[in-house]
Amino acid sequence: MVKAVIFDLDGVITDTAELHYQAWKNLANSISIDFDREFNEELKGISRMDSLNKILSHGGVEDQYTEQEKVGLATKKNEEYKTLLVHLNPENIYPGIKELLDSLKESKLKIGLASASKNGPAILEYLQITDYFDTIVNPDSVANGKPAPDIFLKAAEQLGVSPQECIGIEDSEAGIEAIKKADMFAVGVGTTEVMKKAGADLVLTNTKELVWSQLKEAASVKIG
Ligand code: BG6
Ligand code: MG
Repeated sequence: MVKAVIFDLDGVITDTAELHYQAWKNLANSISIDFDREFNEELKGISRMDSLNKILSHGGVEDQYTEQEKVGLATKKNEEYKTLLVHLNPENIYPGIKELLDSLKESKLKIGLASASKNGPAILEYLQITDYFDTIVNPDSVANGKPAPDIFLKAAEQLGVSPQECIGIEDSEAGIEAIKKADMFAVGVGTTEVMKKAGADLVLTNTKELVWSQLKEAASVKIG
């Protein structure tokens, strides 16, 4: 039986994936690196420093910065990102998410957040949905980031359920891989091509389709 639903945040609950993209692109451009949306898919779900390292290596300059300089670049990106976040409000919650959270509460399901973002708690506050979450995993508390399963396993542990009783919802390739490695039912929100390739059990193109009765039915094939 499904006992918990574990959410990714950026790109699932709200459009912060786009804000990350803008802030990284500006940072990259400031050091003469450019990248497109296709490359940006690789940055989704992974940590701030891993994202920076991927961008530097994309520009062929990964050896040209000291660790201290890299921290400076990542901080600069995060400062810009935070100025974009302050505009977030409940209207920015993706369609269908609030309804899903309400249905899960009504059905007594546990709700967890497994986001790689250190800004996660602040974003939930801006969106005014913190109270829905029974647990929020601190990304610093796990050894390996997505695509490793650690953060999803930690969420299940903190909720007191087994991974096989969980549905995970993600928009990134790394995140779907993490859910699958955690042996959970993986719901991917995004393009069928990207999500199928990553191994999602169920692909939805829009968060509007995240309807509890349908998720439950789809997951029952695997979870029962
Ligand atoms: C993930 C995003 O949720 O959080 C990544 O998909 C981002 O793109 C990561 O790099 C870390 O976020 P933050 O807010 O801690 O820089
Ligand atoms: Mg995401």
